[in-house]
Amino acid sequence: MNRQALIIDCDPGVDDAVALMLAFGASELDLLAVTTVGGNVPQVKTTRNARMLRQIADREDVPVHAGADRPLRRKPAGAGEFHGAEGLGFMAPFAPAKGVADGHGVDALINAVNAREPGTVALAVLGPMTNLALALRREPMLAKRLGPVAVMGGARREGGNITASAEFNVWADPEAADEVMRSGLPVTLFGLDATHQVRATDARIAAVADLRTPMADTAAAMMRFSQQVEREIVGGDAPPVHDLCPVAWLLRPDLFDLAPCRIQVETASELTRGHTAVEFRAGVAGSQPHRWAVSADANGVFDLIMDKTR
Ligand code: RIB
Ligand code: CA
Repeated sequence: MNRQALIIDCDPGVDDAVALMLAFGASELDLLAVTTVGGNVPQVKTTRNARMLRQIADREDVPVHAGADRPLRRKPAGAGEFHGAEGLGFMAPFAPAKGVADGHGVDALINAVNAREPGTVALAVLGPMTNLALALRREPMLAKRLGPVAVMGGARREGGNITASAEFNVWADPEAADEVMRSGLPVTLFGLDATHQVRATDARIAAVADLRTPMADTAAAMMRFSQQVEREIVGGDAPPVHDLCPVAWLLRPDLFDLAPCRIQVETASELTRGHTAVEFRAGVAGSQPHRWAVSADANGVFDLIMDKTR
């Protein structure tokens, strides 16, 4: 099997946790590292949480590198109301047996890409794009060597989830997202337009829970927490599991419809900070190597979770 080398940059976070369980269980992926960023909760907690999840999945072969603990320019902003104060919903923190790997997450990304042929190291970004932006600043050639790059972020048709016009990951560090979009790096962005189609219904959560494995139990518990939040804060019943989408696409690209586009990010206005202006019109769309996820096959994504966490 030709395994896809992959680095996951994340801010676990309950939906990051579900995505990590998918990745840890997917033998098609050669998971080179997990790097962490401050986002849903501070970096010290996202790094601990990544180590906890790695231990639960029995994947301590995968190094966890701590990354940026604050956005490029702005103050750190969390989303604890959606993930719990510790970041993993109902799960009580524990001290993971294996520590953090030496070296900053940005260095781990740059070193991994430079050690391999161009286009052979994929990156899934499941939190603010701070680490990716820092890596591109330090090593601009990454724009030619890194890929495929799949990022959870942005919103177009669906509007925002942290403000009326912005999705959290891009809103939390809009300058980073702006630098990434201007860098020439080919990026496929999985915004709320697609992730809102991938929802944890009661039936889907129950099916995962029925697998009764440590990874499936963890994924189900994270989705149950999100379901409680969805009922309390949003008024819905089936929460979107946003961060599943980039990892699911790397495993099964046929599950998603993508459209070529040009993505620009608002950084000047406080009212619309983090808005993603996604332009599909011919003559503009081709000016940047960007693609926007228009739709997702939710049943196919959840079949993947069932298959990889059993
Ligand atoms: O807007 C959803 C994104 O913000 C997800 O990555 C979630 O984990 C939060 O970071
Ligand atoms: Ca996340």
